[in-house]
Amino acid sequence: MKVTRTIKDLQKAIRSSQLSPIGFVPTMGALHRGHLSLVQNAISNCPLVVVSIYVNPTQFNDKNDLKNYPRCLSDDLNLLQEVLRDKDLVFTPDDKEIYPVEDKSVFHFGNLDNVMEALHRPGHFNGVGQVVSRLFEIVNPDFAFFGQKDFQQLAVIKELVNQTGSKVKIIGNAIIREDDGLAMSSRNQLLDPVIRKKAGIIYATISAAAVMSNNHDIPYLTAFVKKIIEKVKGFGVEYFEIVDDLELKPVGSRAEMKKGRKYFGCIAVKAGKIRLIDNIEIPL
Ligand code: PAJ
Repeated sequence: MKVTRTIKDLQKAIRSSQLSPIGFVPTMGALHRGHLSLVQNAISNCPLVVVSIYVNPTQFNDKNDLKNYPRCLSDDLNLLQEVLRDKDLVFTPDDKEIYPVEDKSVFHFGNLDNVMEALHRPGHFNGVGQVVSRLFEIVNPDFAFFGQKDFQQLAVIKELVNQTGSKVKIIGNAIIREDDGLAMSSRNQLLDPVIRKKAGIIYATISAAAVMSNNHDIPYLTAFVKKIIEKVKGFGVEYFEIVDDLELKPVGSRAEMKKGRKYFGCIAVKAGKIRLIDNIEIPL
C-alpha cells in the first residue's frame, strides 16, 4: 500500500494507477476489526481501494471527546499493511488539507436530523456531511463503504448522496462485535476496565428486546431495555428508539409498523464517561 498525506499526491497516485472502480473507506483511525471488515469488502469488490484516516473536528460537538479521541496512526498503518494490496492507497491528511478555509456548508437532512443522535449531538451530522462530501470530492470513488453500527450516519450519507446527485454507491456493512457482543468501536479502548467487563449487557439486552418484540409492545420493550441496562452500575440509557430504516421515524406501537419496511432498535448508552451506540433489527 502507499500512504499519501496530500490531495495532490493522492490524486496523482489514483490517476497513475488507471484502476477502476474505486472503493473508498473513510475512517477516523484507531482501527479495529469493524473497520477492517469494510476494507475487506472494498478489496473484494474494487481493483483500487482508498482508506482515509482523519479525525474530523467539525463533527465533534464535545471538545473533550475530540481531545480524547484515540489517535494511533502507526498501529493503524500496520493493520492496514496486513490487508491492503500493494496498489491500494491510504490517505492521512491534516486539517489544512481538508479545510483550507472554514467549511460553512449547512445541510438539511429532514427527519434524519431530528431524531436520536441528532438530538443528543447537535451539529454532528452537519460535520459528517462536510467531511464526507469533501472526501468524496477528493477521492471521487465509485463505491463507499460504511458500517451499520452507525445506523443514523449511514442513512444521512445515503441522503447526502441523493441530494448532491453524486455517482458514488453507498454500501452498508454488518456490525462486527467483540466476543461478549459489544459492538466494536474506537471508543471501547477508552472504557474503564470495570465498565468494559459489563458492557456486553447492551447487546444482550437489545437482543432480548428483539426476541420479546414477538409478544410485547414497544413501550414495554423500551422500559425493559432501560430497566435492565440501568441496573448495572455506571450505565445510563440516553435513548432506545425503534425506527424504520428509511426516514428513521420512531414508532410508538407495533400497530404503526408497516409490512415491507424494516425496523431497528437503536440505543445510546453512557457507560461510565463514554458514550456507546448500537442497534439491532426488530422483526415485524
Ligand atoms: P469511524 O468511527 O472511524 O468509523 C469508520 C467506519 O467504520 C464507519 O462507517 C463506521 O460505521 C464503521 N464501523 C465502526 N465500527 C464498526 C463495527 N463494529 N462494525 C462495522 N462497521 C463499523 O464513522 C466515522 O468514523 C466518521 O464519522 C466518518 C464517516 C469517517 C466521517 O468522519
